[in-house]
Amino acid sequence: MKKYLVIGNPIDHSMSPLIHNYWMKKYHLSNSIYDKKKVEEKDLKNIIQEIKDNKIIGMNVTVPFKKLIIPFLDKLNPIAEKTESVNTVLKINNQIMGYNTDQPGFNLTVEELFPNNKIKGKTVFILGAGGVTSSIIHSLENKDVEIIISNRTRNKAEELKKKYKKIEVLDWGKRPTKCDVVINTTSIGLKKNEKINLNFDDCEGCDDKLFYDLIYNPQETVFLKEARLRGNKVINGQKMFLYQAKYAFDLWMNIKPEIDDEIIKFFKND
Ligand code: ATR
Repeated sequence: MKKYLVIGNPIDHSMSPLIHNYWMKKYHLSNSIYDKKKVEEKDLKNIIQEIKDNKIIGMNVTVPFKKLIIPFLDKLNPIAEKTESVNTVLKINNQIMGYNTDQPGFNLTVEELFPNNKIKGKTVFILGAGGVTSSIIHSLENKDVEIIISNRTRNKAEELKKKYKKIEVLDWGKRPTKCDVVINTTSIGLKKNEKINLNFDDCEGCDDKLFYDLIYNPQETVFLKEARLRGNKVINGQKMFLYQAKYAFDLWMNIKPEIDDEIIKFFKND
C-alpha cells in the first residue's frame, strides 16, 4: 500500500482524507490510501524519516506545522521558500521536497472571483498573520491592490511587512477607512458562534464589497453570516481548499483530478 497523510493539530476537522481517498478511487489508484494524523512538534523528524524510508509517499501539512516542518526538508519550491509555508511534501530523487499549493489555490479562486484582474486598484483588508496569511499576501502582491493587515499580535504582522514591503499594518480592532475586500485568515469562527470583534455595520447594503473567510468548516462563520445579512458578497474557503488539494494530488500522482459533483456533495452535510 502507498500511504499518504495529512498532519496537523487539531486534525479532526480536516476533509483532506475524504477528498483524496475519493480521487484515489476515482482514478483507480487502488494501492493508495490517505489518512490523517494528529502530531506534536517533536514527531516531525520521525514523520520525515518515514517519507525517506518510503513508508509515507506524500504528505499534507496543516496548522500549526506549515512553517515548523521546513527545517526537516531538503528543498523548497520557490513559493514555499518565499512564503515560508509548506503544505505538501514528497520525495523526488531522494530529496524531501516542500511545496506550497495554498498560494496557487488562493490565486485561482481570486482569478475566478475577479476575472481579467478586476481586483486591480481595490483595497484588501486582511485579518490575521498566521501560517496561511503569507500565501494570501504573496498572491495579492502581484495584483496591484492595496493591502492592509491587522493581527492581534501586531509583531507577526510587522514580520510579514518586512518581507512584503507594500503592506500596511493596522492595530487589531481598527479598520481602514476604505476597503473593498475583507479576508479572514484567523482561526476565529472555527468554533461555532465565534465572533470577530470588528464592526462592519456601515457596509449595510454594499453589494460590491466582498467578505472572504478562508474557513470552510463550518461553511458559514459568523463573519460571513453577518456579511450576507448586510447584503455583501461572501465566499468561504471551500474553493481554495479544493484547489490546494487538486494541486497536491497532481504533484504526487501526475493526475489533475476533477472537482466533480460528488466532491461538492461532501460539503453539503457537514
Ligand atoms: P499560527 O499563528 O501558529 O500559524 P494559525 O492558526 O495559522 O496559527 O493562526 C491563527 C491566527 O488567528 C493568528 O493570526 C492569530 O492571532 P495571533 O497571531 O495574535 O495569535 C489569530 N487568532 C486566533 N484566535 C484569535 C482570537 N481569539 N482573537 C484574535 N486573533 C486570533
